Amino acid sequence: MSSFYVMNSDSVVVRQAIESDIPKIVKLQEESFADLAKIGNIWHPNELHSHLNIFPEGQLVAELNGMIVGSATSLIVNLVPPYAEHTWNDITGNGMLTTHNPKGDSLYGADISTHPNVRHKGIGHKLYQGRKDVAMKFNLKRMIAGGRLYNYCDYANKLSALEYAMKVVNCELHDLVLSFDLINGFNFIKILPNYLDDARSLNYASFIEWTNPHFDEHNS
Ligand SMILES: CC(C)(COP(=O)(O)OP(=O)(O)OC[C@H]1O[C@@H](n2cnc3c(N)ncnc32)[C@H](O)[C@@H]1OP(=O)(O)O)[C@@H](O)C(=O)NCCC(=O)NCCS
Repeated sequence: MSSFYVMNSDSVVVRQAIESDIPKIVKLQEESFADLAKIGNIWHPNELHSHLNIFPEGQLVAELNGMIVGSATSLIVNLVPPYAEHTWNDITGNGMLTTHNPKGDSLYGADISTHPNVRHKGIGHKLYQGRKDVAMKFNLKRMIAGGRLYNYCDYANKLSALEYAMKVVNCELHDLVLSFDLINGFNFIKILPNYLDDARSLNYASFIEWTNPHFDEHNS
C-alpha cells in the first residue's frame, strides 16, 4: 500500500466487495493480520470467491482513493442454543462460509480488519455501521462474533482469559479488539476457548453480541 495520510474516516467509503477487490483484500489481510498471515491463517482467494458467491451482501470493504483499507466478512447463522460454544472453523465452514443459513436469525462477523496505517480514525466503526445496516436489511435479531482477545498474551501469566476480559469490560485494561467491539455497542457474553489458532489471544475469543433495535419478529 502506498503511504497516505488520513485525518478521519470521512473520505472512506464502505461498500459491498466485488470480485476485482479480491487481490487487494488478500494484500490487506497480509498486513492487517501480519501474525496470522505467517501461519497462513488469512483469507485465500478461493475462500473470498466462495464468500461472494454465497452471501455477497455480507462482504464489505472500506475504500480510500481506490485502495482497500479495511474489510469485514459476515454470514447468517442460527446458533442453537443461542450462546453455543463454537470455533471459528465450525461457524465459518472452515473459512468457506458454506455454513451460511439465509433462514438464520444472527449476522455472524467472521473477521474485521483495517490497515495498521489507518487505525483509530473511525474506519472500523464505519465497517461496523455497514454490518449493522446488513443486519437491519435482513431483519436479523442480532449480530454476534468471536473476537480474538488481542492483547491477552501480555497478561496470560497473571490473569485468566475471563478475568482479562472483565477488566477490559470494566475499562481497567484496553484491548485492541474487545475495547473496539464494546465501544461499538456489543456486549461481552462469555469466553470461547480454542476458538482460533492464534498466539496473541492464546486461542481465546470473546463471544460478543449486538441486538438489532429494529428487529421485527412478525416479519422474521
Ligand atoms: C479492531 C480493528 C478492526 C479496529 O479498527 P479501527 O479502524 O482502528 O477502528 P476505529 O478507528 O473505529 O476504532 C478504534 C479506536 O479508535 C478510536 N477512534 C475512532 N476514531 C477516532 C479519531 N478520529 N481519533 C481518535 N480516536 C479515534 C475509537 O474510539 C476506538 O477506541 P478504542 O481504542 O477504545 O477501541 C483494527 O484494530 C484491526 O484491524 N485489528 C487487527 C485485526 C484484528 O485482530 N481484527 C479482529 C478480528 S476478531
